[in-house]
Amino acid sequence: MRLCIVVVFSTLAWGQDPLLPLLKQQCGGCHTGSQAQGGLSMDSIDALRKGGKHGPALTPGAGAQSLLVQHMTGEKTPRMPLGSPLAAGAIEAVTAAINAMPAMPAVAKKDAHFDWLLRVPTAGQVPPTKRTGWIKNPIDAFVLANLEKQGMTPAAEASRRALLRRIAAHSRGDAGL
Ligand code: HEC
Repeated sequence: MRLCIVVVFSTLAWGQDPLLPLLKQQCGGCHTGSQAQGGLSMDSIDALRKGGKHGPALTPGAGAQSLLVQHMTGEKTPRMPLGSPLAAGAIEAVTAAINAMPAMPAVAKKDAHFDWLLRVPTAGQVPPTKRTGWIKNPIDAFVLANLEKQGMTPAAEASRRALLRRIAAHSRGDAGL
């Protein structure tokens, strides 16, 4: 029963995000609304991300590196909350809440595949060949250039009969052509 009350109470008190209610209680007097000191409003997570004079007050996933925590521990001055003591466990609670926030996706690195995808196609260079008469369209030049590079000559053009036989064999799935 006792555990049940604790669970209900903590859900009511902290809501989905334990960070905002905690900050409101400890720091709200000076960091809410338009009068937010140091330009830092704690009205929403977005406001904390935007931060005050010195940039983002929190870095999701990195509590100890967040300004909020650094001003509470005194690593950065002035120590917060200004002029009043900090509730026991507040630093740990704020650090843990920030650590639990999903880290922001890293700035997208250059993605080679994506680059390739967005590349505007340009016409390639048709390779030069020794024979010229054999070429009927530019693709033939690529085939011939490769054959010439390997010291081979193109086979004579197949007769219509031979072509038909090959098509028939292909469509039946015959191996020998
Ligand atoms: C009594 C008023 C007061 C309270 C309460 C208070 N602060 Fe501040 N806070 C200030 C003032 C004033 C500044 C600006 C200090 C400066 O620029 O020198 C400030 C600045 C900050 C900054 C730096 C913002 C920036 O970008 O420069 C952080 C972070 C901060 N407070 C966190 C907190 C936290 C966390 C709490 C609660 C645990 C808290 N403050 C409670 C008055 C307060």
